[in-house]
Amino acid sequence: MTDTLLAKPLLCIAHRGGSQQFSENTLAAFEESLNIGVDAIELDVWNLGGELLITHDRRLGKTLPGQGRLIDQHPQQLKELILACGNRIATLTEALQLIGDRATLNIELKSPDCADLVADTLEMFVRDNDLSFEHYVVSSFDHRQLYEFKQHLPQVKRGILVEGIPLHYATGFDELEAYSFHPSINFINADLVSDAQRHGFKVWTYTVNEEDDMQLMSELGVDGIFTDYPKRLMNLNAQCLSSSAAASCGDIDNDNDQDKISVS
Ligand code: G3P
Ligand code: MG
Repeated sequence: MTDTLLAKPLLCIAHRGGSQQFSENTLAAFEESLNIGVDAIELDVWNLGGELLITHDRRLGKTLPGQGRLIDQHPQQLKELILACGNRIATLTEALQLIGDRATLNIELKSPDCADLVADTLEMFVRDNDLSFEHYVVSSFDHRQLYEFKQHLPQVKRGILVEGIPLHYATGFDELEAYSFHPSINFINADLVSDAQRHGFKVWTYTVNEEDDMQLMSELGVDGIFTDYPKRLMNLNAQCLSSSAAASCGDIDNDNDQDKISVS
């Protein structure tokens, strides 16, 4: 019998595409994460002058060369930038095309005023490519935009991002009719997890990188984690599934693909 850190496997969501192993929020990162077989990919999207670009920070200087506020840049100039990693900033459409139905895609609405454009873009992409809306989860800390998104494209799942512990835990979010609740690892406890699950939400915690924290999330009973180190979690999941404790790992739906966890 092998020692296993995880009480149960966790949905593996490559945070920003798996940003420690690969360059964050780039097509290269998404491709690498798909190649190792992650369950899902998370990316951050901004509406910049009518273009949906994938990047995280509100200012240049870290992943994007230069300085100043992202919203002050011309989208065409941003698209021409060469990042330190040698890649270019990608559009949401390019990411949708690359990922297709190879993994679940969590699109985080980062900028103000992006819900409608993301909904239009996603709707057109899914229709034109004969895909299913099932592959997508749209999340945001901006719950008003999530609500707006729901009005526009209700068939796409919604994920509620929270930074702290809300006064009434997962109560008060009913109008969003969300699929999942995304708390921070910095503000999580068993009561929050169980209350979210009692409301019918999957619980996906961000950003969980260390093995002992992965173990803790598994003990708390969360369903999935956003991680910059997807390979690390996948190894722990494989260990869990292959150990004689596998019987107790069975409360997550497994795809036909042995090591994959499905988003259902
Ligand atoms: O969606 C989970 C996580 O990405 C939220 O925080 O700042 O990394 O986008 P952040
Ligand atoms: Mg994010």
